[in-house]
Amino acid sequence: MDHLTFKLGRPVTRTTSQFIVYPAESPDAVRHAVRLGLASPEIADGLLSPGRIRLSLTATLVAQAAPGRPQVVALELPRPGVGLDLRQGSAAPAHVLSRFFGPPPWTERYRQAWAEIANLLRAGDVTDTSVVVLTAGEPDRAAAVAEGLILGSYAFDRYLGYRRKPSTERCVRLAGSVEAGEMRQLARRAITVAESVNFARDLVNTPAKDLGPQELEDAAAELARDLGLKCRSMTPAQLRKRGLEGIAAVGQGSPRSPRLIVLEYAPARPRYRIALVGKGVTFDSGGLSLKDGKGMEVMKKDMAGAAACLGALRAAAMMELPVQLTVFIPAAENMPDGTAQRPGDIIRCGSKTIEVTNTDAEGRLILADALVLAQEQGHDAIVDVATLTGEAGRTFGNVLSPVLGNDWTWVERLLSAGLTAHERFWPLPLLAEYREPMLGEIADLKNASQMGGYTAGSILAGAFLAEFSPKTPWVHLDIANTSWSAADLGYLRKGATGVGVRVLVQLLRDLAAESVGSEARRRPRPRAATHA
Ligand code: BES
Ligand code: MN
Ligand code: ZN
Repeated sequence: MDHLTFKLGRPVTRTTSQFIVYPAESPDAVRHAVRLGLASPEIADGLLSPGRIRLSLTATLVAQAAPGRPQVVALELPRPGVGLDLRQGSAAPAHVLSRFFGPPPWTERYRQAWAEIANLLRAGDVTDTSVVVLTAGEPDRAAAVAEGLILGSYAFDRYLGYRRKPSTERCVRLAGSVEAGEMRQLARRAITVAESVNFARDLVNTPAKDLGPQELEDAAAELARDLGLKCRSMTPAQLRKRGLEGIAAVGQGSPRSPRLIVLEYAPARPRYRIALVGKGVTFDSGGLSLKDGKGMEVMKKDMAGAAACLGALRAAAMMELPVQLTVFIPAAENMPDGTAQRPGDIIRCGSKTIEVTNTDAEGRLILADALVLAQEQGHDAIVDVATLTGEAGRTFGNVLSPVLGNDWTWVERLLSAGLTAHERFWPLPLLAEYREPMLGEIADLKNASQMGGYTAGSILAGAFLAEFSPKTPWVHLDIANTSWSAADLGYLRKGATGVGVRVLVQLLRDLAAESVGSEARRRPRPRAATHA
């Protein structure tokens, strides 16, 4: 049996998962495993009977895998029309919002099922090569399987001492009904996306002690080097000279100097030019408006938006997507000190002045600087990703995150991409009424406010940001509630989730797939009432 092996090998962009792609139909892959002594004939029998083994039997199958030998994990994927058809409910209804109310798409169930297998492998102390045989694979299923496995296998073990387990080499065998070249490309893409998510998770999980603004820039520069991209940064002094004081003000209470990091990916004939803006607060103590102990426990995660943008850039560049990207990362550590900004201080961001009524509403201040700069460059759209408001979790729990924007066409693109990638978002209304509370008395704006005695936290934050993207279509993803998981949940491991990477990559893939000069592209953009 011929099989194709491929590796992608470069420092930050190196691939740790190896996929072997079978050019043949699925039963051959299983028989091959039997011949190699990797699978018992009984298991193979089960595998070769379409529809007999269901997802619920996955666990048993893993348990049967021969101990002490390379493990074989096999899962029969029911063929459409035979037994359980997991494609139920995946039909695309007329309107994007109605897609929320069906059962989860089958690709998501595959991700979840294979994350479970990854968990079982982990629990079984597997130290030698794990072999995974996928039978009856169809292209999208293969991608979901690869994602589930790689995401589910993630472990942040860099800081473990004597309790660190030797790393497991994973070798995934994919066999499918499609031609090997196509399967290989699919596998490669799935690996790229999933490992970009894990790349983001690593950045977020790293303690703030080891990842401040400088180290975040180092990580961005290393990524840029590996991808052959440009990376530059602006100092507080350079920013101030351009009338941008948000980043400088938020970072001035920390001895670790803030900055704006900018990366660019410019493919030859881009279909779209997109700016990604990622909140990079490497630690959020609240500043002088200090958080309590509980409130800052995991505030090393306050750069999850930055990590998501870097992860998406990594995937887009490796996949050579025809969309031009400029990634802006305002990076600062929000600390209380004699040098820190004070409540009541007034700063300038571009043409607008801001009274800092609460130093803990720091994210919107650094994002404002970045939005002003992104605005100047004439992108088709700006997407910002930020752990912005505690309100996001109070409203949505950990299921999905708010999305806001000044252009419904682009909000809808994000909603749709989110459903496809199963990183879901729900729109909050940016109505004219929400602007009023953010207007200051002695400055143009204030950074924190209330509304009729209510917090309306996520919307008011969005209304503030909207002031800084008056010209360009802009969408804001508030991932405060989904960027961190309190427990192992399917393919999410406890800790950083890497949320944002998959939805952004899906958006870019959707944009790349749009036909040039299509109706959607030329349609005039409906604007929200607030900022018209
Ligand atoms: N980084 C926080 C938001 C956050 C809270 C993220 C909890 C993840 C979990 C942000 O900088 C913040 O402190 N927001 C304040 C804004 C308020 C002062 C207007 C909030 O949401 O309480
Ligand atoms: Mn804060
Ligand atoms: Zn913050």
